Amino acid sequence: MTLEQCKIIDLPKIADPRGNLTFIENNRHIPFEIRRVFYLYDVPGGADRGGHALKKCHQFLIAMSGSFDVITYDGKNTQRFHLNRSYYGLHLPPMIWREMDNFSSGSVCLALASESYSESDYFRNYNDYLMAIGGSAP
Ligand code: TYD
Repeated sequence: MTLEQCKIIDLPKIADPRGNLTFIENNRHIPFEIRRVFYLYDVPGGADRGGHALKKCHQFLIAMSGSFDVITYDGKNTQRFHLNRSYYGLHLPPMIWREMDNFSSGSVCLALASESYSESDYFRNYNDYLMAIGGSAP
């Protein structure tokens, strides 16, 4: 997979003076079936998350509150995404190295995933990932 496949996807937004509403339906708004949901919260200032690539799992990340950055790398190119709204998200297909930083205080990252959690789906070692994709350090 390459960075061109890492896409910001807009979600439906029902604007309402009582508060806005966004919804996500399986296979309709994001390009995979949702098997798992997890979220990052209480992230201390200056903390970094991510630092891995996934072999099979697609993920879709949304800043439900506050903001953070996702830095992607595909073996050739790198790109930084700033997520700061709950009506869009970032689709990360498999085999993309990602790091997350710049979390604002009180931020919440919602992650939708195409697979159940499996440690064997992770590349946690950057050199192992580079070897697998035949890439080089950016
Ligand atoms: P990890 O994916 O490394 O977090 P991040 O990429 O946000 O820094 O996961 C941190 C720990 O949580 C790790 O020990 C695995 C565990 N974990 C689960 O048990 N289930 C899950 O669905 C996820 C995402 C993580």
